[in-house]
Amino acid sequence: MKILVVKNYEEMSARAAEIFAAQIKSKPDSVLGLATGSTPEGLYGKLAEANARGEVDFAAVRTVNLDEYYPISPENDQSYRYFMNKQLFDRVNIDKANTMVPDGTAKDTDAFCQAYEEKIDAMGGIDMQLLGIGRNGHIGFNEPDGELIPFTHLTALTPSTIVANARFFASEADVPKHALTMGIQSVFKAKKVVMLASGKDKADAVKAMLNGNLNTRCPASLLRLHPDVTVICDEDAYSLVK
Ligand code: GLP
Repeated sequence: MKILVVKNYEEMSARAAEIFAAQIKSKPDSVLGLATGSTPEGLYGKLAEANARGEVDFAAVRTVNLDEYYPISPENDQSYRYFMNKQLFDRVNIDKANTMVPDGTAKDTDAFCQAYEEKIDAMGGIDMQLLGIGRNGHIGFNEPDGELIPFTHLTALTPSTIVANARFFASEADVPKHALTMGIQSVFKAKKVVMLASGKDKADAVKAMLNGNLNTRCPASLLRLHPDVTVICDEDAYSLVK
């Protein structure tokens, strides 16, 4: 695991943008695993700027998103499909047909999840997977638990995640109680993983990920088993690590 500690959110976003731009340059039809949340917004902004300057070409890039609330319509401005369009896809020259986000309206979720996993495999797997980290150590929506489901699945959000994500919704009651998420093993199939963490409210989760035991109670700790992970943390997020 490579750990880069940077000054602040701005620097974290810039370093991440360099890494993703280099990936796309070295393999123009890269399959990128993408994440939502506040953390990657700066990265997406920088990639959009680089695209506008003609430095990064998304024409052949394919993307797979980690997760989506369930149920939710793609037009809902809190859906992760809406977020991805707004933060990245509508700002770069990507072909939307090459972007996959789990379908928050899927009726048969088991069939949907199996097909999602098969599509990732059919693309040759993910070249570079972007991750954020939940305040409780979740990745995607793989919430802390005694056991984890390895592949894409429907899951219930923990009360603490519902509270954490309520800031984006009109009220806590409006936060969907479920989500479709890639599993830990889906993430582990990625050739490279880049995790971003910024801010004091991520310090406990980053400490548990790096210093704690490998444990499904901190899903992010399992990343220590992946052969190619880069964690880019700002000083606040790294402040409790020993
Ligand atoms: C959300 C998402 C995760 C994200 C995390 C952190 O619930 N499902 O993919 O990494 O929580 O979000 P934020 O970056 O807003 O702190």
